[in-house]
Amino acid sequence: MIPVIEINNISKIFVQKFRDGFKKKIKRHVALRDVNFQVFPGEVVGIVGESGSGKTTLGKIVVHLLAPSTGSVYVKGTEITRLTQRQFRPLRRTIQMVFQNPYASLNPRMNIREHLVEAVRLSGIRDKAAVDRKIHLLLEQVQLSPTILRQYPNQISGGEGRRIGLARVLALNPEIIVLDEPVASLDLSIKGELIALLLKLQEKRQLTYLWISHDIQVIHRVADVIVVMFSGEVVEIIPVGERSTDVYQHPYTEILFQTAQKLQSGQAEVTFDSEMYQRLFTAAIADENEKQCVYYPYCTRYFRAGKPQICQMARPELKQVGPRHFVRCHFPWKEKVKVPDYA
Ligand SMILES: Nc1ncnc2c1ncn2[C@@H]1O[C@H](COP(=O)(O)OP(=O)(O)OP(=O)(O)O)[C@@H](O)[C@H]1O
Ligand code: SF4
Ligand SMILES: [Mg+2]
Repeated sequence: MIPVIEINNISKIFVQKFRDGFKKKIKRHVALRDVNFQVFPGEVVGIVGESGSGKTTLGKIVVHLLAPSTGSVYVKGTEITRLTQRQFRPLRRTIQMVFQNPYASLNPRMNIREHLVEAVRLSGIRDKAAVDRKIHLLLEQVQLSPTILRQYPNQISGGEGRRIGLARVLALNPEIIVLDEPVASLDLSIKGELIALLLKLQEKRQLTYLWISHDIQVIHRVADVIVVMFSGEVVEIIPVGERSTDVYQHPYTEILFQTAQKLQSGQAEVTFDSEMYQRLFTAAIADENEKQCVYYPYCTRYFRAGKPQICQMARPELKQVGPRHFVRCHFPWKEKVKVPDYA
């Protein structure tokens, strides 16, 4: 099968110019480094990682809103990275993104109807009656009442904002959607309803999702394949099979699952044993020429193994350890470990 998205060696370095007294300085920030993976038609690929690990940057590169510093992205066989916005236009409808902050992408002076009219017109429908019919169909699909049409962005809830964002994207009949934190910061029941809606739409319209979340519990529930990111790098790619037989091998993936399990089992506040764990959740910043494993200052396996020199001296490659299973670690577990069945 041919991948609908192919990401080859993507790196992204943000260059910021600033003044330090009279001196002009430049800061280079490596947001992504050597990212590689594929997405096949009809799949849900989940991207998970801590805040600042590069998830949104990656999503924006995939939908051609940002250019990578190096590497290439193919969408349905077309290399998009070197295309101008005009050249990309024929693919623009095929691949769409629902943004992380629903309010930021809505105009506070336009009501919801005006937002949806705009989206439907972009899809090529001009006739007023046909636009109205399409809007009502979209509201039905995202399970919103037509009464919302008169409301303004500041009058809608977080869950409604997400549904409106989704309706605007669905208006263009995309085949691939990048969902950036589509259920973050929502109440549990609203989150559950929205996840169910997104999965139903995916199945019904045979959509491909790149689903971004910092929450491995959500990702494990929805994804066919999980891409785990740490500090701009892919540290593990895990195929999700039957829940009881899923496996992971990287120590960071282990921490993510353990934390989720602790939260699930009612330990509302996860307390970490050491400073090392606390630092884990503040974004680590990779150096573009870094030679060591980016995870070594946080890695329990490294400390338990007596600080093997190789972790500090050689950056591990992302190695294939099974069908669609890749790990970036010098010491991947020989025994595969079952994913806790908390979901
Ligand atoms: N335009 C920019 N200029 C400079 N640095 C940027 C820019 N956009 C993102 N970054 C930096 O790149 C890194 C990755 O950011 P990104 O938004 O992709 O992370 P994220 O994984 O989506 O985080 P979150 O979970 O908080 O949304 C961060 O350290 C961020 O500060
Ligand atoms: S390479 Fe070493 S430091 Fe990096 S994740 Fe593996 S064990 Fe930990
Ligand atoms: Mg983000």
